[in-house]
Amino acid sequence: MSKQKPENSLASEYRYETLARQIIQLIQQGTFRPGERIPSVRQMSRQQAVSISTVMQAYLILENEGLIEARPQSGYFVRAVTDISLPELEISAPSLDPSHVNLHELVMMVMNDSANPNLAQLGAAMPNLELLPTERINRIMSRLARKAGKGTHQYHFESGLEELRVQIAQRAVSSGCQLSPNDIVITAGATEAVNLCLHAVCRPGDIVAVESPMYFGTLQIIEVHGLRALEIPTNPRDGISLGALQFAIEHNPIKAVLTISNFSNPTGSFIHDEKKKELVELLARHDIPLIDNDVSGEIFFTEKRPMVTKAFDQKGLVMLCSSFSKDISPSLRVGWVAPGRYKAEIEWLKFTLSSATATLPQMAIAEFLESGGYDHHLRRLRREYAGKVAQLYDAVTHTFPPGTRVTRPSGGYVLWVQLPENVDSLELYSLALQGGITLTPGYLFSPTNQFYNFIRLNAAAWSYPIMGALEKLGDMIVELAGRGRA
Ligand SMILES: Cc1ncc(COP(=O)(O)O)c(C=O)c1O
Repeated sequence: MSKQKPENSLASEYRYETLARQIIQLIQQGTFRPGERIPSVRQMSRQQAVSISTVMQAYLILENEGLIEARPQSGYFVRAVTDISLPELEISAPSLDPSHVNLHELVMMVMNDSANPNLAQLGAAMPNLELLPTERINRIMSRLARKAGKGTHQYHFESGLEELRVQIAQRAVSSGCQLSPNDIVITAGATEAVNLCLHAVCRPGDIVAVESPMYFGTLQIIEVHGLRALEIPTNPRDGISLGALQFAIEHNPIKAVLTISNFSNPTGSFIHDEKKKELVELLARHDIPLIDNDVSGEIFFTEKRPMVTKAFDQKGLVMLCSSFSKDISPSLRVGWVAPGRYKAEIEWLKFTLSSATATLPQMAIAEFLESGGYDHHLRRLRREYAGKVAQLYDAVTHTFPPGTRVTRPSGGYVLWVQLPENVDSLELYSLALQGGITLTPGYLFSPTNQFYNFIRLNAAAWSYPIMGALEKLGDMIVELAGRGRA
């Protein structure tokens, strides 16, 4: 490895040290921002007219100093360097009593505000439309529409388009799952998938165990069915507490367990493989179905696709739900469920409640998957979202007051923020709305108001121009925190 000192560097510096110092300056002055990719080793070597090994050594220094990180097959990225190191969020501590859900008015109010184009949308977990493969899908759809025969417009009563089910079954292999196309039922998004599953295994008044916090859309389904939610303590890092779940099972007639085991909404928690296996085995011992929502499973920033709980399912008790809403299009409304032993009920319910899923969107998605376009698109999407999550995390740590904690998920695109204790997220919501900003208040994620001082932020649409809105929000939090102390 060359260690020649260049002419115009500090006398005691090697070329790779000079290069490392230059890159540090670029990071500090914001030219390379947290989450962004820096030039590849080859590009940097060409740009700076230095050898590959000089660049490698410089990058090694930056990596050791925690300033950049290597991501397999993607390159080197600026880490969310922050001189403020926030403590991690703690495991939630809900009361271990089941409760009815009554959140619909609040949910609809927030949903209406999320549809207002005049507001800075910091909360709603919508994907970034600029990053979705919309043009490609539109081209496929118009070609299919032109050439498709009248048959496309007939009811399609089976479990959904076979070509699509084949593609989904093939992809399942990468998440450790052996599925046949016949194991899958196509639905109108993950929402319908979860709805059908709950419908299949519960009756009004039944108790279902949920992660706490839980995505409010799922809590809404629980509310609609008149079920009772039993919130289980959940760690924002590695998900539902198995000890607490076991205790809950031993003391309550739980009819189903609901999880989002890969990158939950809102905490981004991720249940690692060994724990997924233990979860499935625990429920198998008690013959309780697990409804696991894997809607963000493909948006991982880790080295490989995380496994799904279904991979460990020996008894057909895991009902795996997912959709293409987060990574292809939320409006095509194509999702699916692999319902294990409940397939016949799910097919019947699907037929009874919505007859069938629209055919053309299924055809378009099947073709996109088959062409390899999906994989290519996902690689870019993961890179972009990893960057945006890191940038928003960094921005929150710099703009929100002391007492704030925020998650740093390894997939998905939402951040869960704990505000100082005396800040009420609904008060903040009203204040923010007056300032032209929306966010998602923590109240939505628990039927028992566990998270009054939490908010969810969406990193998908993050870009530096939004910084102004975030700073404004930070000021409002400071104001509310100060009011509480007076
Ligand atoms: C966990 C979770 N499930 C389901 C949905 C909605 O999915 P779909 O559009 O496929 O119904 C969302 C959307 O935010 C979500 O975060």
